Amino acid sequence: MKSLSLKVDDYLSTYFRKEPQFLYDASYYLIRHGGKRQRPFILINSGMMFGATLESLLPAAAAIEILHNFTLVHDDIMDNDKERRGVPTVHVKFGVPMAILAGDLLFAKSFEAALNLLKKSYTHKQVVEVVKALVTASIEVCEGQALDLKIAESKDFPSKEEYYNLIELKTSSLFKACATIGSILGGADEPSIEMLKEFGRLYGLCFQLVDDVLAVTGDPSITGKPVGNDIREGKKTLVIKYVLDSVSERDRSKLLSIIGNRKASNEEINEALSIIASSGAPERVRLEAKLISEKAILILQNFPKSRARDMLINLTMEASSRSR
Ligand code: IPE
Ligand code: IPE
Ligand code: MG
Ligand code: MG
Repeated sequence: MKSLSLKVDDYLSTYFRKEPQFLYDASYYLIRHGGKRQRPFILINSGMMFGATLESLLPAAAAIEILHNFTLVHDDIMDNDKERRGVPTVHVKFGVPMAILAGDLLFAKSFEAALNLLKKSYTHKQVVEVVKALVTASIEVCEGQALDLKIAESKDFPSKEEYYNLIELKTSSLFKACATIGSILGGADEPSIEMLKEFGRLYGLCFQLVDDVLAVTGDPSITGKPVGNDIREGKKTLVIKYVLDSVSERDRSKLLSIIGNRKASNEEINEALSIIASSGAPERVRLEAKLISEKAILILQNFPKSRARDMLINLTMEASSRSR
């Protein structure tokens, strides 16, 4: 993943060498501070599986990573999060108005990058299909983020179905776009594109289930994100739902008094985290994520063995046990 990431990073940097510098600095700041680069990795390997070259996929890989970073900048404002990738979030560092603008610029830059596919040897039809996939993903992220906010504000817990619908929209949408765009650019046939899209959907579900587990169990020095803020913000995730299903009445009412209380003290948050840690719920959610990742792997195994396919299989095999 290293050399691929370096190539993507070099290419990404070319989009942020412009004036006014303070705007480009704020927009490039989060990208510059790392991240796992899983979305470009999935996009590139989905393309290479069908014969596209890394070089020709770079504009699309940049488009998806820039779009992802845009969602993160605005997400951190919405979630009132202070740290990401081990550094202060964009709105903490540059202020909310500049962070909104930096996000807006990233959104536009994502499409600028996608249109640079026209400089490669793709057909206009392929490029239009790529832009379509980016548009669909952008719309779905907004829909999912809206449901996320609504559920956080509500005092009721969502049903499991509602939770899955929300994470499919806010998170799977981008992973679906990665696998779809890669396969389109690789020249895959329609049934194969549909299979890759389903792989991306399942991968995204598994990914967000684990993200929600890490939000309440993760090590901030590994994830780069503080632990516990999801509780203050009232995020009613599957792991929290399972905790409430399994703990004593006393712990249950304790937890319910902390979840969604923005004024909760660090002591209360720590108490909540320790109830969660010993509830068995994090393991239960990881197991559920593992079952989903196994379905995603089965899809990939329908394709002939190749280095790119096996890169995707290996990534997916690690998805449910990841700690970052
Ligand atoms: C964070 O995504 C947002 C979610 C969908 C959970 P990542 O965990 O991929 O973030 P980076 O890019 O590695 O920082
Ligand atoms: C991630 O949502 C989805 C988007 C950024 C659109 P989260 O709010 O759960 O992700 P983190 O945990 O802040 O990265
Ligand atoms: Mg967030
Ligand atoms: Mg969020």
